[in-house]
Amino acid sequence: MKKLTPAPNPQTNAWRTYHDARAGVWIDSFDGRWLVQTRDSVFPNFIKTLNQGLASSVYWKARDKSASTTPKYIFGRKVSDRFLVRENGATFSIDFSAGYSSGIFLDQRLNRRMVGNSVQQGQRFLNTFAYTGAFSVMAAKAGAETTTLDLSKNYLNWTWENFRANGLDPKDHFGCKGDTFEWLKKFAKQGRTFHGIVLDPPTFSRMGKKTFSTDRDYASLVKLAAAVTEPGGWILCCANTQGMNHRQFEAQIQQGIKSARRQVIGVKKLEMPPEFNEDDYLKSLRVDVG
Ligand SMILES: C[S@@+](CC[C@H](N)C(=O)[O-])C[C@H]1O[C@@H](n2cnc3c(N)ncnc32)[C@H](O)[C@@H]1O
Repeated sequence: MKKLTPAPNPQTNAWRTYHDARAGVWIDSFDGRWLVQTRDSVFPNFIKTLNQGLASSVYWKARDKSASTTPKYIFGRKVSDRFLVRENGATFSIDFSAGYSSGIFLDQRLNRRMVGNSVQQGQRFLNTFAYTGAFSVMAAKAGAETTTLDLSKNYLNWTWENFRANGLDPKDHFGCKGDTFEWLKKFAKQGRTFHGIVLDPPTFSRMGKKTFSTDRDYASLVKLAAAVTEPGGWILCCANTQGMNHRQFEAQIQQGIKSARRQVIGVKKLEMPPEFNEDDYLKSLRVDVG
């Protein structure tokens, strides 16, 4: 049994508090509500020893076949409603009954902070594959005019809930429902450009008859994004994949920028939060585009 990781800072109460990839046990703490994930389909009983009264609630989900199902209640107070967590001064709404994920991907914390620190007042920012709009919240808090794009209307509504939780008015921002590829082409036709863009696609996606696979199609996604990036702007490229190493990932990005007839003027590899350091599945590069 490993030790628990404390919260990264006093402004953050949602983080990965336990990480043992070898044993296949991970615990995310959402303001004291624990979400235990396991590789196997047996609840690890040592969690009860580990807890020592720290968690107000414990829920569990096995990653194998039931990855998209709702976590199961184990002990403590039942979590029946959405609740708010804090991360580096931002607030996010969490839902343990939402299935796929609870509202925020904790492994993106440092990337969200980078976005919040990178955008400036009045700049246009585009968040594609946005899920609940956490990157948009960071950009909007920093004063950007944000556009949030996702296939799902439910996730766009959740985005606006996150905006309101941060005192931001959704009316000052844009939401686009639909496919990222189609919208990027539309933006290019309309001459609509952005200073900062986030690309964080799922490993695989299906839109009608078309499919997207990170390993196969990342370069074409970057090409479309580069076409709507302002000179001197940046693209945060993320990929949750074991199918490519960092070098191959960067090669796809370089190829995408080049085929848009744009130039890479800076590349920065971004790390995962330290409590995720046993795994290297999430690849993140910020590319500055000339
Ligand atoms: C990996 S999650 C993104 C996580 C998000 N970037 C974050 O950090 O919170 C993938 C999201 O992409 C959306 N999605 C999948 N295929 C899409 C597509 N072709 N166009 C737009 N959104 C898509 C899904 O609905 C889901 O919300």
